[in-house]
Amino acid sequence: MYYEADLDKIDLNSEPPSEEPARQYYFMAKCKEWVREFERKNGRPPTAFTQTFGCQMNARDSEKLAGILKNIGYTEADSEKADFVIFNTCTVRDNANQRVYGRLGELNGYKRKNPEMKVALCGCMMQEPAVIEKLRKSYSFVDLVFGTHNIFKFAELLCTVYEKEQKGMIIDIWQDTDKIVENLPVERKYPFKSGVNIMFGCNNFCSYCIVPYVRGRERSREPGEIIREIERLVQDGVVEIMLLGQNVNSYGKNLDEPMTFAQLLREVEKIEGLRRIRFMTSHPKDLSEELIQVMKESKKICRHLHLPLQSGSTDVLTRMNRRYTKEQYVELALKIRKEIPDIAITTDIIVGFPGETEADLEDTLDVVRKVKYDNAFTFIYSKRTGTPAAAMENQVPEEQVKTGFDKLLKVVQDTAKEQAAKYQGQVMEALIEEVNENDNHMVTGRLSNNMLVHLPGDASMIGKLVNVSLDQCHGFYYIGHAADVQLL
Ligand code: 5AD
Ligand code: SF4
Repeated sequence: MYYEADLDKIDLNSEPPSEEPARQYYFMAKCKEWVREFERKNGRPPTAFTQTFGCQMNARDSEKLAGILKNIGYTEADSEKADFVIFNTCTVRDNANQRVYGRLGELNGYKRKNPEMKVALCGCMMQEPAVIEKLRKSYSFVDLVFGTHNIFKFAELLCTVYEKEQKGMIIDIWQDTDKIVENLPVERKYPFKSGVNIMFGCNNFCSYCIVPYVRGRERSREPGEIIREIERLVQDGVVEIMLLGQNVNSYGKNLDEPMTFAQLLREVEKIEGLRRIRFMTSHPKDLSEELIQVMKESKKICRHLHLPLQSGSTDVLTRMNRRYTKEQYVELALKIRKEIPDIAITTDIIVGFPGETEADLEDTLDVVRKVKYDNAFTFIYSKRTGTPAAAMENQVPEEQVKTGFDKLLKVVQDTAKEQAAKYQGQVMEALIEEVNENDNHMVTGRLSNNMLVHLPGDASMIGKLVNVSLDQCHGFYYIGHAADVQLL
């Protein structure tokens, strides 16, 4: 954690400051008073449980929530029976929403037994007006609801929950924002690796996608702020960072002094002590020659590129508003493979977009075979209210989607296995991430190309970079042994 204001020195008799982040530290100090009161009454600090749905962006947001909760004195609980439960939600596909409703049903039961328990909901799903309506009607036991744009206000909102005299749900949702609040506390899940937001929002408006509506317009963080954050993370023991944005390739366009993503990478590369750089995610239409060159020359940028295809049919791509053709995508991917031969290319593919025919699916399979993805996330199209695709006619019958999906999965698995087998027998550097759940004499490491390797080891290796011999390939992971342990 960094930039932690000394909360006990804040004068709570004064008015809250209007500037951020000072305002939020003021409210953290106020929440801390309530926490002390709780401790006096109960003989223990209050507990909090956070569940995160969705992508890395949400995972990072949850670390920000955890930073605030820890700062005000909450301890972490590992169950939904905690004093405070928060769900950080996702809405990219309908099944993400359904999971949240399912969990809320369970929480209702817990809360009946323990009425003091507080429940908060935040994240992408909360940006949808229809969700808020449903919550008001059917989940009135929820105490606090906020969205993606005002997550920095969490401490202030918590204060309102503690202080509220009237019963009822507190709802604070912003439509959009151009605000980026820096220097709030963060509590990382892993000591040795961290996500770093470089931009927020998205301007692409792919016709199936709800993200631009729930995460707002694209805005980039100042490069100086990003570099300072990474330097502090490195001082704190981080060796690997993942630069996060909905479309990192358009980073920097709206800065006062515009800069490209490739230029930012060059700056990040210079940070001493930082060993690995990852980024997520890249829109193929914006991936520049400059970026390929920076990746090629870099010693720190990992050999992994996530390059969402979505569909291999130019016709479908046009209706998806992806702004590239099948041929342009394949040309780009093969060029990257040629320039950086040891790179792993992964992708996202949607099956069942409105109007998709069997011939369209064949085009997708053709791209998969040509690019030979190292891994691919395959999704069944999910209709998202408010997106242009939701209003399109000729939605694909379920049976056809299912057949197409199974066919795609098979081809994707075949190319992934073929790719993985290429590296069997080689020695590669792995960052050891955890001890295996079922066998505490085995650890799991992540290779630069994002593949996982299991090897004999113990907890003392966590966070270390180890050269590992990839002895056996098991399709999506390897079994190996440590060739040596590098001293960091
Ligand atoms: N239906 C199915 N998959 C979707 N994705 C985004 N929107 C939808 C949708 N409406 C997938 C895309 C994206 C990934 C994060 O989720 O493949 O890259
Ligand atoms: Fe992430 Fe998009 Fe889901 Fe939001 S809706 S959590 S941005 S995947």
